[in-house]
Amino acid sequence: MTQTGNAPLKITDPTKHVLTKHVLTKSALIPAAAVALLVGMLATSLPAAAQSSVAEGQKLAFDRSKGNCLTCHDIKGGNLPGSIGPALTDIKRKYPDRNELVAILVDATKRNPLTVMPPFGRNRILNDKEINAIVDFLQTL
Ligand code: HEC
Repeated sequence: MTQTGNAPLKITDPTKHVLTKHVLTKSALIPAAAVALLVGMLATSLPAAAQSSVAEGQKLAFDRSKGNCLTCHDIKGGNLPGSIGPALTDIKRKYPDRNELVAILVDATKRNPLTVMPPFGRNRILNDKEINAIVDFLQTL
């Protein structure tokens, strides 16, 4: 009863134009919505991947036979840190561009030829994957 009463109303409704436009926009948005959904799915799966990379990076950084970063750097969560290098804090703010951190890890002598920090990448102490995991970890500091 209300339906039949409403139907003619809709046709003569001054907002009909707006409604049609809305419907059109909506259908045009379907591919965009699909992309957004995909991106959303990726975004929700990323934190898990990033998290395991962060954990792996921390392990590598603290491992005395790998990164061995604690010998020279105080790092949150690490035991018996040395103080030859600066404490690694506020890294994400200091180095918003992760490539800078990758560069430091690959070869710190490029920034400071006299540094005592080992050129982890150049000397193959750490491979690209390991360096990237450590950088993920550093960005949480
Ligand atoms: C033998 C000592 C030593 C080791 C081991 C070492 N570093 Fe360093 N690092 C330094 C020193 C010293 C500096 C200060 C800058 C310089 O000398 O060029 C530095 C600087 C840095 C910086 C820049 C910090 C800032 O506040 O600008 C980062 C990031 C860094 N190191 C990360 C690491 C990571 C990650 C590891 C382990 C994979 C590591 N370092 C291992 C000595 C070391």
